[in-house]
Amino acid sequence: MVEKFVFYMNRMTKSYAPGKTVLKDISLSFFYGAKIGIIGTNGSGKSTLLRIMAGIDKEFQGEAWIEPGRTAGYLPQEPQLDPNLTVKENVMQAVSKKQAILDRYNEISMKFAEPMDEQAHGRTRKIARCHRCRRFVELGSQN
Ligand SMILES: Nc1ncnc2c1ncn2[C@@H]1O[C@H](COP(=O)(O)OP(=O)(O)OP(=O)(O)O)[C@@H](O)[C@H]1O
Ligand SMILES: [Mg+2]
Repeated sequence: MVEKFVFYMNRMTKSYAPGKTVLKDISLSFFYGAKIGIIGTNGSGKSTLLRIMAGIDKEFQGEAWIEPGRTAGYLPQEPQLDPNLTVKENVMQAVSKKQAILDRYNEISMKFAEPMDEQAHGRTRKIARCHRCRRFVELGSQN
């Protein structure tokens, strides 16, 4: 049985602008199961090559394909930030679930300062017995 390439690249050249060729005449091919690494100095074109291999960048000369039926994943080197948000807002997006738990925790904590009837008092004691914040919020939200 002839082994087929899972990825194939032939004479691939990538230029970002006229006169700015980053990768020239690159030929690579891998069999299924190959484990590869790309090494090179800063700015030599490693990320550019990976984006082409993942099929994200299709603007190049030459040939590059992945075996039909297979998919390629790509983990970007830099975080993908929303340019319409501030730095703080971008950071807060990443921690929004934890922030929501903290907000709910603080909201419930504030209720301890309010006078309450016997039934509410019992519910609050039940909440107070829960040590884990997530559980705390789940119980708190039933009230
Ligand atoms: N979108 C772009 N437009 C123009 N030039 C680009 C673009 N992306 C990368 N470059 C340039 O192409 C060259 C290769 O960049 P690339 O990010 O692929 O290098 P790298 O090897 O991954 O670098 P690093 O080691 O810093 O991660 C660099 O000179 C870079 O400035
Ligand atoms: Mg890179």
